Amino acid sequence: MKKFNLMSSVRHVSALALMLMLLLSAVTTAGPVEDGIISRIQAVGDICIEGHACAEALVVAPSGPRSAEEVYNSGCMACHTSGAAGAPMFRDAGAWSTRLAKGVDMLYSNAINGIGAMPAKGLCPTCSDEEIEIAVDYMLEGI
Ligand code: HEC
Repeated sequence: MKKFNLMSSVRHVSALALMLMLLLSAVTTAGPVEDGIISRIQAVGDICIEGHACAEALVVAPSGPRSAEEVYNSGCMACHTSGAAGAPMFRDAGAWSTRLAKGVDMLYSNAINGIGAMPAKGLCPTCSDEEIEIAVDYMLEGI
């Protein structure tokens, strides 16, 4: 009959624990093998993996309403900074005076629905009417 040997059991348990630790560290740290795999996948699909520098560019869409500046910079700026297609320029009192004579509500409504070469909502279909209105206010600030 085999006698229970305490020392040999302790040795078995610690050997098992050591193996587990090695296994875990192999899984949790990205070694050269994993880096190689990542670079091979990237060559084909150019993927971004969380934690890598390229993934920092992946911006999660804000859930709340955008600020006037965000709306202006992402949409309106393209035309209203350069005056493209005759767009009245950003905070240029001369360009806006005759338009402002129509009343700001008319400007809101024309920005939302489009007028002449000005596309509806300034090509921001996901913008709410309120977001377009605050972007108009932002363009007119100080005039
Ligand atoms: C593709 C170019 C373009 C983009 C993008 C654009 N606009 Fe315009 N916008 C114009 C042009 C051109 C006019 C002049 C239209 C006219 O009077 O014929 C104009 C005119 C306006 C006017 C004056 C309307 C009036 O009644 O006189 C407002 C207000 C306006 N844009 C707001 C915005 C806002 C807000 C955004 C962004 C959400 C935006 N625009 C994006 C080209 C653009």
